Amino acid sequence: MADRLDSLRHELLEAVDHAPDLKTLDEVRVQALGKKGRVTEVMKTLGSLPAEERKPFGQRVNAVKAAVEEAIAARREVLEAAELEAKLEAERLDVTLPPRPHPIGRLHPVTQVTEEITAIFADMGFAVAEGPDVDDDFHNFTALNFPPEHPAREMHDTFFIEGHPELVLRTHTSTVQIRTMMAGPPPYRIIAPGRTFRCDSDATHSPMFHQVEGLVIDRSTHMGHLKGCLQDFCEAFFERDDVPLRFRPSFFPFTEPSAEVDIGCRRSKDELIIGEGSDWMEILGCGMVHPAVLENVGVDPDAWQGFAFGLGIDRMAMLKYGIPDLRTFFEADLRWLKHYGFAALDFPTTFAGLAR
Ligand code: PHE
Repeated sequence: MADRLDSLRHELLEAVDHAPDLKTLDEVRVQALGKKGRVTEVMKTLGSLPAEERKPFGQRVNAVKAAVEEAIAARREVLEAAELEAKLEAERLDVTLPPRPHPIGRLHPVTQVTEEITAIFADMGFAVAEGPDVDDDFHNFTALNFPPEHPAREMHDTFFIEGHPELVLRTHTSTVQIRTMMAGPPPYRIIAPGRTFRCDSDATHSPMFHQVEGLVIDRSTHMGHLKGCLQDFCEAFFERDDVPLRFRPSFFPFTEPSAEVDIGCRRSKDELIIGEGSDWMEILGCGMVHPAVLENVGVDPDAWQGFAFGLGIDRMAMLKYGIPDLRTFFEADLRWLKHYGFAALDFPTTFAGLAR
């Protein structure tokens, strides 16, 4: 009997030590110590022994059990460490490697063009400002000198928020002119790119679209600066020095005088080319900031003056990258994005080239 116990102990310890992985180790444990395990079975024979043999034999079986348990615990520790090591090795990631040459994701042309526009104005010394998409009547209209009965306030153009009569989805980024001027004293030289919303939809209008607001206020900024700034900007943006621009007199309650600017282009169903043909596409509204607006935000109009503009980002993307229909921008068609999209890590800069 004693020999049998010794060889059982030897056999089990051997099996534990040779278990190649945690799963096998657990099988060995069940076979040895489980309800029907080898050690358990031997324990069950205790009752059939003569009374005086039971105690010493029981003690020996328990010693075998303890030795096997201890061996299992030790082996488990070794195997767990090895398994972790293997896992870490397999999941190793060298973060210093260059990115994959063909990233799957593409930047939307609106994102790309926003970055390009921001890079150009940053070079001209403009800071970037922001405001919320959902704004109030004051920032969107009242402070911008819209009279109470002005048609732009009507349902026709503006999205209102149900249950919140004072809130609107901003119809233009001019809200950020107000926020900027109320946040601190002049001078100001900012651009504010962002989403804007109007109840309108066709090949060149989308109910959600993007604008960049520009605002320059100091002691003597005038309309000539505005023209020069926009001409320089367009030449930098389109990377050519013959961009045909047309300034048309216009009206905005918050500028006086006001103008709209068109770019000469040729447009057909599936093509859009700038600098050719006889079509004009409107890209922005601009003008000298109205003295009443300056007064509304607490800036002295006798001491400060300057210009503002609101540029349609989506239209700029259409013109630069020859995309004829604005509605395709927001259809979330991956084939379209693959065709018109941009590599994610090519940040536009004016010195390295805006789009590559
Ligand atoms: N906010 C005007 C629009 O969306 C554009 C604009 C901005 C005009 C700034 C003048 C000055 O149509």
